[in-house]
Amino acid sequence: MSEQALTTEQLRFLAEAAGAAPSLHNSQPWLLRPAPDSLGMDVYTDPSRAVPLTDPDGRALHISVGAALFNLRVAGLRLGRDPEVRLLPDSTEPGPAATVRLSRPAPASPPFGRDLFEAVGQRHSSRRPYTNRDIPEALFGDLLAAARDEGATLSLLEEAGVRRVLALTHEAERRTGSDLARTAETRAWLRLDEPPANDGIPASALGPQDHDARVPVRNFTGRPSPTDTSQRFEALPQLATLTTHGDLPTDWLRTGQAMERVWLLATVHGLRLSVLHQAVEWPDTRWGLRDPAEGPGHVQLVLRLGYGPPGPATPRRPVDEILDLSDHRPTVGP
Ligand SMILES: Cc1cc2nc3c(=O)[nH]c(=O)nc-3n(C[C@H](O)[C@H](O)[C@H](O)COP(=O)(O)O)c2cc1C
Repeated sequence: MSEQALTTEQLRFLAEAAGAAPSLHNSQPWLLRPAPDSLGMDVYTDPSRAVPLTDPDGRALHISVGAALFNLRVAGLRLGRDPEVRLLPDSTEPGPAATVRLSRPAPASPPFGRDLFEAVGQRHSSRRPYTNRDIPEALFGDLLAAARDEGATLSLLEEAGVRRVLALTHEAERRTGSDLARTAETRAWLRLDEPPANDGIPASALGPQDHDARVPVRNFTGRPSPTDTSQRFEALPQLATLTTHGDLPTDWLRTGQAMERVWLLATVHGLRLSVLHQAVEWPDTRWGLRDPAEGPGHVQLVLRLGYGPPGPATPRRPVDEILDLSDHRPTVGP
């Protein structure tokens, strides 16, 4: 089984799973190329799909690519192969952001504690109100361990921390709303009435605004939403931060892998998740997200977790657009 070149069909299977990952504004900023010996896949960032005003350093772009990389690992295991990952192997881009070698057989016991493959297609952002049901402690412990295995720290916030992070997110959302260029950039990723698109955010994925203005879900339209469509959100949202020691592209790639691993595991357990990224997009509000009691670290993401309706599926670019087979010499399958 090992040392067998990947067939075109297997490469497409891997790319489809990678492409199902979450990304800032559903920008899908990734490109995949088979390794020259067809025993792995190289994962590239696609700067042409950057969101430059919101994400000037490409931090969110690398987080998105990290999530795609994690899905690729899960799909590699499904093919019976052991994914060996190297982040930024050439140390700079435009070389690959990561290489995944798939030449050895998968270990007997699943490395993520369980098979996460089915969750790859079931995971969606859920921006709707959640119930007030708490996340069981044991489950949160598993999510925390999953993030730690990927090199990031997941912290569930206490009430004071939740209030602090909500206030910072409100402030960032207000600022973005009064910044015409940023608002236009975000709106450009909205897909409201046009023919079916394969990227961006469709109307069906937008949730209501919070009737009590407690939970600042991102307003993608840049317009005040009508109050008659607002709904009551959970009284005290369950928020968690994902933090890393460093703040370099490799840390962002690790964050993306940790986010996706946590999200897939949450999905397996019927727990919903959405991202509240606004406060990370302004340097001062990002700084304020840090919990001084937690010691040094860089907050990369704010996650809202809870029980509620699943989010809808959002469109994806076709495999032919994200998988570059131009240098690939197809092998005949076993
Ligand atoms: C780095 C990053 C930042 C994101 N920021 C937000 C956000 O601020 N608000 C939001 O509602 N969704 C946010 N998302 C979720 C994306 O909009 C979502 O993943 C994308 O539209 C695809 O939808 P899906 O998650 O349902 O597959 C973010 C995702 C990533 C990876």
